[in-house]
Amino acid sequence: ASKARTAYVCSECGADHNKWQGQCAECTAWNTLSEFVIEPASSAGGKSSVAATRRSGWAGKADAPTVTALKDVQHADEARVSTGIGEFDRVLGGGLVHGSVVLVGGDPGIGKSTLLLQAVTKMASTMPGLYVTGEESLAQVAGRGLRLGLPLDGVHALAETGIERILEHASRMRPGLIVADSVQTLWTEQLSAAPGSVSQVRESAARLVRYAKETGTAVFLVGHVTKEGGIAGPRVLEHMVDAVLYFEGESGSRFRVLRAFKNRFGAVNELGVFAMSDKGLKEVPNPSAIFLSGSREPQPGSCVMVTREGTRPLLVEVQALVDVSPLSNPRRVAVGMEGNRLAMLLAVLHRHGGVGVGDQDVFVNVVGGIRVQETAVDLPLLLAVLSSLRDRPLAEQTVAFGEVGLSGEIRPVPNGEERLKEAATHGFKRAIVPKGNAPKTKRIGEMEVVAVERLSEALEVAT
Ligand code: TYD
Ligand code: MG
Repeated sequence: ASKARTAYVCSECGADHNKWQGQCAECTAWNTLSEFVIEPASSAGGKSSVAATRRSGWAGKADAPTVTALKDVQHADEARVSTGIGEFDRVLGGGLVHGSVVLVGGDPGIGKSTLLLQAVTKMASTMPGLYVTGEESLAQVAGRGLRLGLPLDGVHALAETGIERILEHASRMRPGLIVADSVQTLWTEQLSAAPGSVSQVRESAARLVRYAKETGTAVFLVGHVTKEGGIAGPRVLEHMVDAVLYFEGESGSRFRVLRAFKNRFGAVNELGVFAMSDKGLKEVPNPSAIFLSGSREPQPGSCVMVTREGTRPLLVEVQALVDVSPLSNPRRVAVGMEGNRLAMLLAVLHRHGGVGVGDQDVFVNVVGGIRVQETAVDLPLLLAVLSSLRDRPLAEQTVAFGEVGLSGEIRPVPNGEERLKEAATHGFKRAIVPKGNAPKTKRIGEMEVVAVERLSEALEVAT
């Protein structure tokens, strides 16, 4: 039988080369070749191909495929196992599915190892775990477990980075769950590339995915987010796994948010909220108001919004700093929201609100390290910008939400009533919201609801 060989595959066009070169001979793209392992043809007569290894996320060698009526397919509801951490289960879609592979990404030091050690020890009775550490020593892992008071019996640990040996141990021990901390430390003997390189990370992850699918073992892959924001450089890991969760937070804040970016077994955009304490990560099951900056005095450049991430409303504070720019091309910097959207909204502000910031630097930030992805941030963002520009705070206890369209119209957002109720519960006195979201009564409890249809109206009532 022939042996596995390596090939260099272009990530642009998929062309297959025998040796590495800077430019792809097929599509002429530069620096797109990376090393792949190509498995030999199987005895079943399959053709050796790059696609075979690329598709390695799929369950092993299936029999010759046959066409089946969809209604006749045997469907077992995925059995879920609770991680013992409610907020974690929520983000996973109700627990961990057997045989699923979940990538947990985040900045170094955010708490990924802590979270997974807590989960793996809590799950020991239902899913015996193997914690593979490539970054810390066994003593460090055990020491952390003891300090956090976690039950360590039932969890095995392995300090190893070679994927062949990890899988060897796993086949012998047959754990229900493997944690690979981190995927960046894994490497395979089959590739000559340096450990940590994209090909090594990708191939090692692929081997773990294959193992998970063949044995029904659940796998957590820990990944450090690189500067570019992708896990391990290319987004390719994201395609291989069943779920991608990001662990986010702001340095200096003890709150952490776990967010599903992709989930084959549940909804995305569900948030899990944690607080880092000296006893590890604690759940915050009722996180509604933790992302407010805490200063109750109204400040210029700040607007509280009600966002709805996943299935819960959250009050978050949007801050803006607008200042005369020394640059001919003033800066627009957005933290916690999309930068392109900021530029677009500033254009709408100029054209339809009559407020120009062309000669100003504009910085915006969502407090607490949380990221707001929905368009309901548009209106509070522009109110914060206006407030900073005028150096005048919004009226005390005001919240806002709403999408701003390119023609200056304020569009309604989903679940308006729920958002308004949440704001009223937290004592806000005035809400500026899209007309489509406002109740007929103009009030919710003690809170006055101001309905606006155009950006110009919103700017007028806010200041
Ligand atoms: P860690 O889980 O090692 O982060 P990651 O694996 O994402 O790199 O978390 C490390 C940080 O968390 C470290 O800065 C200290 C802090 N921490 C606490 O505050 N309390 C604790 O109980 C633990 C275990 C960590
Ligand atoms: Mg770690």
